[in-house]
Amino acid sequence: MVTPGKTLHILSADQFDRPFLDRICDLTDTIRRYDKSKEGMVYLQSLLPHRQSMLYFTQPSTRTFLSFQSACNIIGMKSSEIRDPSTSSERKGESIEDSLRTFSSYVDLIIMRSPVAGLCNRIASLLDETPRPVPIINAGSGPDEHPTQALLDIYTLKRSFRKIGGIENKSICMVGDLRRGRTVRSLSKLLTKYDGTKLIFASPPEFKIGDDLRQTLVKSKISFEETTDFQGAIAAADAVYMTRIQDEYDVRREDGTSESRSVDISRFCLKASHLPSLKSTCVIMHPLPRRDELDPAIDKDPRAKYWRQERNGMWTRVALITMVLGVDRNILLPEL
Ligand code: CP
Repeated sequence: MVTPGKTLHILSADQFDRPFLDRICDLTDTIRRYDKSKEGMVYLQSLLPHRQSMLYFTQPSTRTFLSFQSACNIIGMKSSEIRDPSTSSERKGESIEDSLRTFSSYVDLIIMRSPVAGLCNRIASLLDETPRPVPIINAGSGPDEHPTQALLDIYTLKRSFRKIGGIENKSICMVGDLRRGRTVRSLSKLLTKYDGTKLIFASPPEFKIGDDLRQTLVKSKISFEETTDFQGAIAAADAVYMTRIQDEYDVRREDGTSESRSVDISRFCLKASHLPSLKSTCVIMHPLPRRDELDPAIDKDPRAKYWRQERNGMWTRVALITMVLGVDRNILLPEL
């Protein structure tokens, strides 16, 4: 996946092959072992104190922003941020392209979240033509892609299934707004890299997966089904991946009604009363934030892994940054 001499941008789940996924999961495990001792933590701090990152998040975020910021701190990187473009010279009419090119003059890595699908790719291509082409990491691009969420999801699934044969041959059920959910699109693409995996998509008809993802899945030859039978789908699953309605992407209607409000999602909410019907080894995940689709009463169930999933995001992002900036080879010791 890495082309020598080229800037490694992280733009889409499409770019990760199976060796990359295995490598980042192993690296994340190793980094977590370093973090268990003071010497290990000091060593991690010494990896990139000479590098700076920019977090450009113009779409709301809690965990992706904070986990990337924490990840930078763990490896000694200084980070700066813009979360509100009205505080930058975009307010004075500067184009987003010029703004990001300006950031690249001062930092060594740009981590960006934007409501605009495809913007990260555009900026990466633009920077590749400049004398200082710093890497771009896509931290969520509209309804399009969330590749680093998919990496932490794979890591969480791999760890959760480590005693029962790994991700291979498992049935993963994704629930919710599958049409506009970027985490579902990115994770589904990565699951095609695991033999025998089956995907079950449970949603109201209005929120079925999009044609683009359907075509990708058909091409990959992964087994998948689309259903409105929520109860049957979750009972058959080795992992249930809940997602919320993505109403921030509702198209404004002339009559004032909202697309999301006109769809009944009550049948696609996981409640404590569903727990007895899940497999005893089932893994319950959610990229978060959640709303009513995931009952907080489930948090106490040992199968609920979403808080762990959230923390895994920080470690996976540490590993990713070391790979992007080429210091992953300095993290060699399997134990410290
Ligand atoms: N999962 C996720 O992307 O969460 P945030 O929107 O809080 O970053």
